[in-house]
Amino acid sequence: MPERQAERLTVALPKGRTLGETVALFRRGGMDLSEAIREESRRLAIDLKREGLRFIIVRPQDIPTYVEYGAADLGVVGKDVLLEQERDVYEPLDLKIGACRIVVAEPEARVGRQATHLRVATKYPRITERYFAGKGQQVEVIKLYGSIELAPLTGLADRIVDLVDTGATLREHGLVEVEEIARATARLIANRASLKTKYARISAIVEALRRAVNGEETGR
Ligand code: PRP
Repeated sequence: MPERQAERLTVALPKGRTLGETVALFRRGGMDLSEAIREESRRLAIDLKREGLRFIIVRPQDIPTYVEYGAADLGVVGKDVLLEQERDVYEPLDLKIGACRIVVAEPEARVGRQATHLRVATKYPRITERYFAGKGQQVEVIKLYGSIELAPLTGLADRIVDLVDTGATLREHGLVEVEEIARATARLIANRASLKTKYARISAIVEALRRAVNGEETGR
């Protein structure tokens, strides 16, 4: 890599269930941090000195914040988080991993019943507000931070808006999907200023990842 390009880029990756798939995708794109992650599983920042890359591992909901403020030049985050947060970031690539759906679900026993006042529990209050407002339906949105499926079981809410992958969690809690709001996959996002000032390096990474997504190996 020429000296001129040695300036470091910071890439924010999401902690949790998609981290493994993300690391595998970056490795196929010629950016291999798998060994460093295996060796020091608690480390939150990993430098690939030769490539001039620093990876930081943060909560998925925090990734758009790091990228919007330029603390990270690039990030990987689910479309669900992007739809919820509506941040000012550039979204150059669908990484096609971590596919899931955002759905409305309710207890099986209630399906088909009409209600005038609906309470909907979710970790996605803005997506939920927008969705029901778009249908002209007024609902009370209750914000939760996790274990959303418990809300109808405990009487906290009538319905939930949540992520579904295999559908197992819904089934286990006697809930059925009644509407699909959106499909979501992980996206590469970029800070708007970095995209201009570090254009060559960022587009090389976008291209390497695009090839990896399409199943072509790269030796970056
Ligand atoms: C997500 C989601 C569901 C579950 C869906 O939760 O909120 O609970 O995964 O997956 P499934 O359809 O394959 O069963 P997550 O594990 O992210 O935890 P959380 O509920 O605490 O947010």
